[in-house]
Amino acid sequence: MGYNVAIDGPAGAGKSTIAKLVAKEKGFVYVDTGAMYRGLAIHFLEKGIEAGETDKIIEACKDAEVTIKYEDEQQQVYLNGKNITHKLRDEAVGNMASKSSGIPQVRAKLLELQQGLAREQDVIMDGRDIGTCVLPNADVKVFLTASVETRAKRRYDELTGKGIACDFDEIANDIKERDERDSSRETAPLKQAEDAVLVDSSEMSIAEVVEAIVKLCK
Ligand code: DC
Repeated sequence: MGYNVAIDGPAGAGKSTIAKLVAKEKGFVYVDTGAMYRGLAIHFLEKGIEAGETDKIIEACKDAEVTIKYEDEQQQVYLNGKNITHKLRDEAVGNMASKSSGIPQVRAKLLELQQGLAREQDVIMDGRDIGTCVLPNADVKVFLTASVETRAKRRYDELTGKGIACDFDEIANDIKERDERDSSRETAPLKQAEDAVLVDSSEMSIAEVVEAIVKLCK
């Protein structure tokens, strides 16, 4: 069994940025489970399926194989043998991932892959249900959050920094909607595990959050 660190929290809390830095400092493998849900979402979208079409999504799970490889220490996601990593961050893919991830069959499809990765090596894994469902016996559990305003501001700065025009209120509303959907679903909702340490990064720098988490690790 590897040493396992679970980081859960809402969209935009900085989980991946922080997890990557902790991974580097501690020599852990960073596992981004959101990217796996996004990989399956691409499969559904490529088949022309819409988010509400649950039966079609369940059927489409049967011919989807998501696998992970590490190239230059970066996680690469493959869908049926094709590297689709460059498509993962599209807005439509994120929305499909958020909606389809509420379906138990979609979650079951990825659970074994996630648990297998954590068995074989020391990992820091981020997602929504890592501390509660995927790795209930993780050595360290962190629930990383930040206010909606802070998360919307980070996303706004990220997009405008890339020259993409966007509207702050629209981003904030999108974040609220996604929080609501991720937390209120029946299967594996986003919630803090009882034994997770709460870290609110609203008023913290990236370095401070990394330091706080590194201190919790062996
Ligand atoms: O972290 P992210 O934005 O890449 O995740 C995309 C969607 O996948 C998110 O809206 C919720 C879902 N997800 C999940 O249900 N469980 C996880 N462990 C990770 C992501």
